[in-house]
Amino acid sequence: LVVKEPPQEEFVDDGKKKVTVFFGTQTGTAEGFAKALVEEAKARYEKAVFKVVDLDDYGAADDEYEKKLKKEDLAFFFLATYGDGEPTDNAARFYKWFTEGKERGEWLQGMQYGVFGLGNRQYEHFNKIAKVVDEMLAEQGAKRIVPVGLGDDDQCMEDDFSAWKELVWPELDQLLLDGDDANTVSTPYTATIPEYRVVFHDKENETLFERSVSTANGNAIIDAQHPCRANVAVTKELHTPASDRSCIHLEFDIAGTGLSYETGDHVGVFCENLLETVEDALNLLGLAPETYFSLHSDKEDGTPLGTGSLPPPFPPCSLRTAVARYADLLNSPKKSSLLALAAHASDPTEADRLRHLASPAGKDEYAQWIVANQRSLLEVMAEFPSAKPPLGVFFAAVAPRLQPRYYSISSSPRMNPDRIHVTCALVYEKTPTGRIHKGVCSTWIKNAVPLTKSDDCSWAPIFVRLSNFKLPTDAKIPIIMIGPGTGLAPFRGFLQERLALKEDGVELGPSLFFFGCRNRSMDFIYEDELNNFVERGALSELVVAFSREGPTKEYVQHKMVQKASDIWEMISEGGYLYVCGDAKGMARDVHRTLHTIVQEQGSMDSSKAESFVKSLQMNGRYLRDVW
Ligand code: 2AM
Repeated sequence: LVVKEPPQEEFVDDGKKKVTVFFGTQTGTAEGFAKALVEEAKARYEKAVFKVVDLDDYGAADDEYEKKLKKEDLAFFFLATYGDGEPTDNAARFYKWFTEGKERGEWLQGMQYGVFGLGNRQYEHFNKIAKVVDEMLAEQGAKRIVPVGLGDDDQCMEDDFSAWKELVWPELDQLLLDGDDANTVSTPYTATIPEYRVVFHDKENETLFERSVSTANGNAIIDAQHPCRANVAVTKELHTPASDRSCIHLEFDIAGTGLSYETGDHVGVFCENLLETVEDALNLLGLAPETYFSLHSDKEDGTPLGTGSLPPPFPPCSLRTAVARYADLLNSPKKSSLLALAAHASDPTEADRLRHLASPAGKDEYAQWIVANQRSLLEVMAEFPSAKPPLGVFFAAVAPRLQPRYYSISSSPRMNPDRIHVTCALVYEKTPTGRIHKGVCSTWIKNAVPLTKSDDCSWAPIFVRLSNFKLPTDAKIPIIMIGPGTGLAPFRGFLQERLALKEDGVELGPSLFFFGCRNRSMDFIYEDELNNFVERGALSELVVAFSREGPTKEYVQHKMVQKASDIWEMISEGGYLYVCGDAKGMARDVHRTLHTIVQEQGSMDSSKAESFVKSLQMNGRYLRDVW
């Protein structure tokens, strides 16, 4: 279990200048940047004090946010934007309070600030959260000391962060150094490589370790920090043998776990690396797989290590288990990982080359050789065999934590209260270096052994993430669902829910589902079930676009155009629209098509249609679950 770090202490009034660095993080990158900024700043400005704050811990209630924020002199915000322009879970409450709250006027005049955003330019709402917070801080009277930083994960977020920091230092020199010091150029800072303190244990304690790793079910709260162990009850291939791809239906058994969910929620799954990946990593590290150890982010006397930003340690276990469960080995290494490898490369040529790749001079090479080639951390380690980081460095600075994968739940608790269904397409592709990339979680799902086949079935720590992708509370309201491929998942849940409602005698409004796949005889997943929903009146009409049957591609948006007047009629009657699936291609194209339909059917000009679609979105009638 990952233990959350305690909230930071309050500042004491010792006359020093105070800087608060907030973060809104999902996978830890924003948190890492926030901590890195503070580490570096501490070394530069001895006369200031710094605090890193998780936005969720900042105030228990909204009026506390207000009271505390008013007192901040100098604040930085690291804010990631997710999915459909949404804040991270830990920033959601703050964001809602800050952006949707009452008119407050220019109440933040005492504050100076800087915002750095983490996003991806491929997505429509690039860095929306950072941009909005940056604007609104200024509107509410705070003074911006640097332009908002727009980190782009599609290129290199670390470079964007470095470039933004170069704008921050001169400003902080003015604010935090005394007059004389401010005129001297501050010394360049070299980042320390973070490292845990490692304690090795006897193998006899193995069972104790394994118990501490397995998750304690029956917890009051089940979340990413406290997942619960769920057995795999059923798995089934959904594609026919004629298909060269794979899509798996998997059911987690949640009976008696204390876990519950609502239709439309997401399930987070902590999976393990494949055995072959684990073996590769163990070989490259050159350490005994059965080494039992624990990680500590403090010294033996309990004081913090002070070696940069360390994620909370995972529980004691063997190296084999640690590599399987906690190390992200298949993503491309960040520049900071390359520097950590360089520090432990015994061959100076290798160390130099690693440092070069991480340096500004090696920017293009990094972008090509690592990012464009999708070179995994393991591939990079294999190219630099003399780099053998010790355990404490490997888990602190080389391999990021393996993150849970999220899936839209494809069942409804009304029909399946004891099961969480997942519909997962297998990720299996050749990268430019010729490596076969097997998606970590989808491969785990494909290989999972269900309870129907063995009592010793597969299991995973899982938890539920709430979503706002929900059916209207009034079942009579018309709904339009658009979800090709595995975008079908939440709609299967919706339709199960509607069927259960109908069987309870509830009157249902009209519903239309646009599904898309390549070919009826290959990947028309859940075909029988969908037809059954129609026959039993849970779904009014199923419209399927087959993209690889005829001479031209037919996609869901082409089918939408053919049904334009029906769609317009349903929207005019107060209907809701739902889109699920790929954000970069499909959801963007569907959005454009919707705009056109509104414009033509509603006889509006383009800008009227745009504000009409916006208002649907604002009113929660146009919802998207996209990735
Ligand atoms: P394709 O693979 O033949 O291009 C589910 O993945 C379905 O979505 C497939 O039929 C796929 O078609 C289709 N698809 C791919 N890109 C799309 C897009 N931009 N809009 C809508 N559907 C798309």
